[in-house]
Amino acid sequence: MKAIMHSIALSLAVLVTGSGCTGQRDILIADFEGETFGNWTAEGSAFGPGPATGTLEAQMEVSGYDGARLANSYHGGDDARGMLISPPFTIERDYLNFLIGGGKGPDTYMELVVGDSTARIARPAAESERLRRLGWDVRGLRGREATIRIVDNARGGWGHILVDRIEMSDRDKSEIIQNYELTFDTDEPLLLVPVDDHAPEVRVQLRAGGRSAGAPMNIRLAQGEPAYWVPVDIARFRGEPVSLVFEQLDRGETGTARIRPAASHEFDYAEPYRPLYHFTPRHGWMNDPNGMVYKDGEYHLYFQHNPYGSLWGNMHWGHAVSRDLQHWEYLPDALAPDSLGTIFSGSAVVDHDNTAGFGPGAIVAIYTSDGRMQTQCIAYSTDNGRTFTKYGHNPVLVDAAYRDFRDPKVFWHVPTRQWVMALATTQTVTLYGSPDLKAWTRLSEFGDGIGAHGSVWECPDLFPLRTPDGRTRWVMLVSLNDGPNGGSATQYFIGGFDGRTFTPDPLPYPLWIDYGRANYAGVTWSDIPASDGRRLFIGWMCSWEYGNDVPTLNFRNAMTVPRELSLLSNGQHLVLASMPVREMAGMRSGASSQRAIAVSGEYTVAELIPGNDGACEIDLTVDPGAATGFDLVLSNAAGEHFDLCFDLRTGNLVIDQAHSGNAPFANESTPPSRAPLAPAGRHTVRLLLDKASIECFIDGGRTVSTNLVFPSEPYNTLTVKAAGGPLAIASLDVHPIK
Ligand code: FRU
Repeated sequence: MKAIMHSIALSLAVLVTGSGCTGQRDILIADFEGETFGNWTAEGSAFGPGPATGTLEAQMEVSGYDGARLANSYHGGDDARGMLISPPFTIERDYLNFLIGGGKGPDTYMELVVGDSTARIARPAAESERLRRLGWDVRGLRGREATIRIVDNARGGWGHILVDRIEMSDRDKSEIIQNYELTFDTDEPLLLVPVDDHAPEVRVQLRAGGRSAGAPMNIRLAQGEPAYWVPVDIARFRGEPVSLVFEQLDRGETGTARIRPAASHEFDYAEPYRPLYHFTPRHGWMNDPNGMVYKDGEYHLYFQHNPYGSLWGNMHWGHAVSRDLQHWEYLPDALAPDSLGTIFSGSAVVDHDNTAGFGPGAIVAIYTSDGRMQTQCIAYSTDNGRTFTKYGHNPVLVDAAYRDFRDPKVFWHVPTRQWVMALATTQTVTLYGSPDLKAWTRLSEFGDGIGAHGSVWECPDLFPLRTPDGRTRWVMLVSLNDGPNGGSATQYFIGGFDGRTFTPDPLPYPLWIDYGRANYAGVTWSDIPASDGRRLFIGWMCSWEYGNDVPTLNFRNAMTVPRELSLLSNGQHLVLASMPVREMAGMRSGASSQRAIAVSGEYTVAELIPGNDGACEIDLTVDPGAATGFDLVLSNAAGEHFDLCFDLRTGNLVIDQAHSGNAPFANESTPPSRAPLAPAGRHTVRLLLDKASIECFIDGGRTVSTNLVFPSEPYNTLTVKAAGGPLAIASLDVHPIK
């Protein structure tokens, strides 16, 4: 309920302040220079007792306001909400100019209300504590009575608004052009837009044939020399004029003039840190793997994709398929944002029995729409996942009680003959059941008081696996941004599932699928044939800690290699092991092998591969003998190195990346990461290197650590150092990967 804080009913003070070009003077509506809001009504708490004297406590520095004070809804931080309402006034000039800043989300805005409806609405051009001057053209409203409402109905990041100096004038003083339309009469299939990751986002609507096409895009339009270009696909509008409408542009901007039609989108695909055998988006930003499903010989990989930039945003489902889990074919994006929101993570299933009525064997995608709230939606494909039709009655699952309500992972539960959805619900996983993928009922909730809870839970999965002694246990995956070594990581639980409730076995939680800093949001493939029987997994080989900062240009970030999951014993209890799928061995393009190397002190392979291009696999089997530990150091001629230290006394693998190269996180203050080692008489080490990543699979996948590295040239030297006594390398194989 909104509390009316104060409402002082004074008539509007109309000050005549300056002169417009027609000679008429400006009329000041509010300058927020008093200690109270005067004759404005303040509701809620966000605007405080009166205009703020600039920056409020814990706020970034506010600038660009006029005089000494402004209306600032950061009282109580971003979560506080409130509204300022002006007394009624008559519109007597052609323009209404004002200064505005703060958040630009749907719930922070200033509106002009005429009669009972919103006649004009304004939001800051960019999320910024710097106020900018905007203006409304109110020529058509002269003589009408109006009120202004300054609204902060938002919680969370940028949930506040800043407003100052509202005046009526015969001159448009806006520093910003609104709804600027750029029209192209072209037969080319693409518009190329210049981008710079450091530029603020502009909101752009594609229009064709006089209608809006799709949801608006947020693009970091380059001013000056572009860093790279992104394509806007207009092929389907051939023959019609197409336009881009920019919601707000700085007057004097230079980016729009560079936008040009083009036959293709050419760029340097093989940039230095583009992996050679890991999946990357052709261009643009990528995060979570989504909708992985197998059908008719194809492994589908959908993924969180920004087609309009190499930073996170504009979430679509990108798409690729593979027939061998080695090579991936790019396909057009499969799901684009709509009025319900952008397309967040989710899953896909094959509806063999046509439970949803979209046709037997349809692929049904179940995903989160991230709009004013997060809701679950479905879409179906009857052309093997190439194109999807969104269900006409979306969303299919809504719960206004949750702000974080996302990442549905769905599977068919044979014994209870129902679809089961695992959904991340703030810091638990809620399970829902459905006969038809459309009507969902709540089954149970898991997670209170167990496992890691350092941040919101994301991207759950729930699936059965066989234990080494032939029992079935269920595995629950949950990703969160507070992993064992900081940053993003995926924890798991092992337990029972009866079709309703997941009951965890008593194990020393939290347990982690990967102890490195670059494996997040991974889930497993649906519909792998029973004759194959494997549980296949892929993760986003990155972290929210540094994902937007990695030194690549036209694309950002890769997936892990596809991995096979299994339950194995670590000598004390079951652990979820992961190893590269066996298909990866088929990518080796030769080997140099050594056997039975006795190491007392150090052993160095000075050149692992002649002409190493950065894509290789190194396999070692180490018999520690009397050694209390050993180090594996990968290094290059530039003096950069990546160190794996096996401390057998404490049972830890310690990985030091501080000197690994140009990673945003590789510096003196980077703490090493730790992973527990299972006790073993001999240790197997499998390292997959690919330009910018090292995936370490130890002891059959019982310990896994995936990390990013950005060496200025490939590591091509391996040094093995024995600690506390001599050891033997039973085998050492090095494979280039093609
Ligand atoms: C996990 C995540 C998901 C969400 C998606 C948005 O990395 O935050 O929870 O659906 O990314 O891109």
